[in-house]
Amino acid sequence: MMSHERLRLGIVLFLVCVGGAFSLGVAASSREGAVAPARDPLYVAECGSCHFAYPPGLLPARSWEQMMNGLERHFGENAEVSGATGKALQSYLAANAADRAGEGKARKFLASVRPGELPERITTTRYFVNKHREIPRHFWEKNPALGSLSRCEGCHVRADQGSFDEHEVRIPGVGRWED
Ligand code: HEC
Ligand code: HEC
Repeated sequence: MMSHERLRLGIVLFLVCVGGAFSLGVAASSREGAVAPARDPLYVAECGSCHFAYPPGLLPARSWEQMMNGLERHFGENAEVSGATGKALQSYLAANAADRAGEGKARKFLASVRPGELPERITTTRYFVNKHREIPRHFWEKNPALGSLSRCEGCHVRADQGSFDEHEVRIPGVGRWED
C-alpha cells in the first residue's frame, strides 16, 4: 500500500511535470513568431554599422559563408574585416544560421529555400517575398525613411528584439499595417 508520504511525493512530482510542460509550451509559442536577435557584440559592431544587424537565423549557413568570403565586394560596398575578426564572425554566423538554430521564423525562412539554392539576401528568399508582396512599392521605394525592404527595423518596430510580428508593423509616414 502507498504511504501518505509516497502519495504526497507523487502529487508534487505530477504537478512539477504538468507545470514544466505548460511553461515549455508557452515559451515555444511565444518564440513561434520570432527569431533570435543578433546579440553578439562583435557582430553587432561589425555587421550593424551600415545597416540593421540581421539575425543569423534568417539565412542558411552556406549563404553566410559565401557572404563572408566576399566582403570586399559586399552589395557595392567594401565591408572587409581583419582575419581574426572574420573568423569569429564566421563561427558566430555558422552556429546561429537558420539551419542550425532553426526555431520559429528561422524555420520558415529556411523551409522556403530549396536545397540547391544559395540566397545572397534575406529579401530574396521565397518566404520573405511572399510576406511582403502585398505592400505597395511606393510605401518603401520612394520613402525617405526606407528606400528598400532591407530596412527591416524601419517597419518592424521590435526587429531589434527579433520580433517580426505582422501586428507590430508601422510603416514610416503611412502608419500601422492593416491586413
Ligand atoms: C560598409 C557598409 C556595410 C557593412 C560594414 C556591412 N554591410 Fe551588409 N550591406 C551593405 C549594403 C549597402 C547592403 C545592401 C542594402 C540594400 O540593398 O538596401 C547590405 C546588405 C546586406 C544583407 C542583405 C540584406 C537583404 O536585402 O536581405 C545582408 C544579409 C548583410 N548585408 C549582412 C552583412 C554582414 C553579415 C556584415 C558583417 C560581416 C555586413 N553586412 C556588413 C553594407 C554593409
Ligand atoms: C515597408 C515595411 C517593411 C519592411 C522594410 C520590412 N517588412 Fe517585414 N513585414 C511588413 C508587413 C506590412 C508585414 C505583414 C504582411 C502581411 O502578412 O500582411 C511583414 C511581415 C513580415 C514577416 C512575417 C510576420 C508574420 O507575423 O507572419 C516577417 C518574418 C518579416 N516581415 C521579416 C522582415 C525582415 C527580416 C525584414 C528586413 C530584411 C523586413 N521584414 C522588412 C513590412 C515590412
